[in-house]
Amino acid sequence: MVREWDPRTASSAEITSLVETLNAVLATDLPQDPSWRADSMREYLGEVMPGERRISWIVQAEPTDPTAPGAVLGHVHVLLLGDIGVLEVLVHPSQRRTGLGRRLVRLAARRVYQEGFQSVGVEVVGDTPAVAFYESLGFTRDYVETRSVLDLSTVDWPALGEMAAGVGAGYQVQFYPGGPPNELIEAYVRAKAEIRDVEDGELRPSSYEPERLRDSLDCLHRRGMKPYIVLALHERTGEVAGLTEVVVPAQHPTRADQYDTIVVQDHRGYGIDRAIKARMLLELRSAEPGLIEVQTWNAQSNEAMLKVNAELGYRPDREWCEYGADVAELVHRLDAHG
Ligand SMILES: CC(C)(COP(=O)(O)OP(=O)(O)OC[C@H]1O[C@@H](n2cnc3c(N)ncnc32)[C@H](O)[C@@H]1OP(=O)(O)O)[C@@H](O)C(=O)NCCC(=O)NCCS
Repeated sequence: MVREWDPRTASSAEITSLVETLNAVLATDLPQDPSWRADSMREYLGEVMPGERRISWIVQAEPTDPTAPGAVLGHVHVLLLGDIGVLEVLVHPSQRRTGLGRRLVRLAARRVYQEGFQSVGVEVVGDTPAVAFYESLGFTRDYVETRSVLDLSTVDWPALGEMAAGVGAGYQVQFYPGGPPNELIEAYVRAKAEIRDVEDGELRPSSYEPERLRDSLDCLHRRGMKPYIVLALHERTGEVAGLTEVVVPAQHPTRADQYDTIVVQDHRGYGIDRAIKARMLLELRSAEPGLIEVQTWNAQSNEAMLKVNAELGYRPDREWCEYGADVAELVHRLDAHG
């Protein structure tokens, strides 16, 4: 049975079952990735930024025990933001190649079309069945990044200490667990507007206004994702010269996600990128003793950042792609397929 589903009001058994399916998918497609926990999963799936909406459906098996809901064997959700619907589809490995994935995309695409949106986007992990799946549905590849993973047990901590201290004169590097302090929000946003060297994927919205940044931090906290920030402050002007953001999600707290790293154009060439990232890792080591790895996504053209990441010990893991499709054409194709 396929039905629309609201994680905010779903039973805990359904949430747990969805996490089990996600972990079966990870074990099959990304066996090196840590499995997910149910912690804050309801909030992770249910909370959105102001102005955004997420619509979800599940595929549920017939219950084997009349007192418990049937297992969640598939899931699709679409996040409606700006002028695009961002899709995520999961089909349990035991249920694949029966047309379920296509059916779920059709359901979500029709809704995106009805809601008046023009395009859909999706993150597709390289070297998994999702590549052939989305290509078979007529999606085209818009953008490719490389995901790299740093195993903290391989880090040379004294060398990292030197990197953290190796910032040019006139800059102060500071650590802020939870997010930038109020008095630095405006300067932080000005630095964020420097999008040329943004490290993160396109599908995550960046925050170029103070209100939007506050909303985005609130949303992260509500979803059980703990942000950590390291800033390089330019002492003479008080401007934020560089920033790096790492998030530790309650759903997979042993592997943190690197979000944006930005060094403002005028402040490049002073070792800020290396120093702020090294400082972040040193701080995380004591703030998050359970942390084992950090993962990051980079444009393949961003050679300067890739070089610093390699020095820190990051190892390229796999391609991470963004695919897109025109919604009207997608719906037409899927309807024609039946
Ligand atoms: C991608 C995914 C949704 C496909 O689900 P599915 O139910 O198996 O897909 P369908 O049966 O609807 O397949 C539709 C078409 O896609 C293509 N396709 C799907 N899987 C394929 C594979 N492994 N190899 C080649 N083509 C494939 C085929 O053309 C297929 O049509 P066909 O079976 O008639 O040949 C599923 O593999 C999945 O959940 N992957 C994980 C996705 C994800 O987000 N992961 C994130 C963490 S890794």
